[in-house]
Amino acid sequence: MISSPLMTVMVDAARKAARGLKRDFGEVENLQVSRKGPGDFVSAADRKAEEVVRDALMKARPGYGLVLEEEGRIEGSDTSHTWHVDPLDGTTNFLHGIPHFAISIGLEREGQMVAGVIYDPIKDELFVAERGKGAYLNNRRLRVSARTDMADAVAGYGTPYLGRGSHAVLLREVAAVMAVTGGTRRIGAASLDLAYVACGRLDVYWERDLKTWDMAAGIVLVREAGGFVTSADGAPDPMPSKSVAAGNETLHRELVALLRKANG
Ligand code: IPD
Ligand code: CA
Ligand code: CA
Ligand code: CA
Repeated sequence: MISSPLMTVMVDAARKAARGLKRDFGEVENLQVSRKGPGDFVSAADRKAEEVVRDALMKARPGYGLVLEEEGRIEGSDTSHTWHVDPLDGTTNFLHGIPHFAISIGLEREGQMVAGVIYDPIKDELFVAERGKGAYLNNRRLRVSARTDMADAVAGYGTPYLGRGSHAVLLREVAAVMAVTGGTRRIGAASLDLAYVACGRLDVYWERDLKTWDMAAGIVLVREAGGFVTSADGAPDPMPSKSVAAGNETLHRELVALLRKANG
């Protein structure tokens, strides 16, 4: 486990928000569900969790800026630090009673992702990472999978909301990956997909049309677990392109090549 004042702040914020999410899970009729776009829902659970995380982070680090999925950007006086917060990653799962969602908090310092916390309240799985200090699941140090043969690999991916991103591109990519991997999964929470790469449950994962809050924390986790994460096109920093490809060194390289070929 990582013991640092920063981790304490992040973990406390995530755990506090998790209590509300656990209470609200399964109570969909009381959650004032509305639609941000086709297939893209938001509920009182998302908003409440975000307020809890926002207040905790602002209290502990008053000057830092925030990028919040529901409320948007809050500028801080300290322009070198920005939190990227997804208060409920996996809203579709949450609203359908599928117990797979998380709170994701990432910290960016001078353009670099330096710390991440992803908490799955249902499984009580806390993923944490800080640059140079490793990645952990609860108290266990994490390492990406050691598989080097795509035929043995399980690949995770994500699908964009209706009207956002290109389903044609995704279908080509999924076909290319399915043709060579042992299995494919669309589990439904981008932050956990990256956390699952960090702990070796998924060998590789890719997704396009993400937002910074979906990937910020997971990027640190994968890197601190010895993995590679770039944009889906192989650019070193995934944040500007809003796409990710992740895995161990060998399979990440192969994944990026497969995606390139599929679109080629
Ligand atoms: C979504 C989930 C999903 C991914 C979408 C995200 P949300 O986040 O991470 O797995 O495929 O692109 O927008 O809206 O549930 O926080
Ligand atoms: Ca999300
Ligand atoms: Ca969300
Ligand atoms: Ca959302």
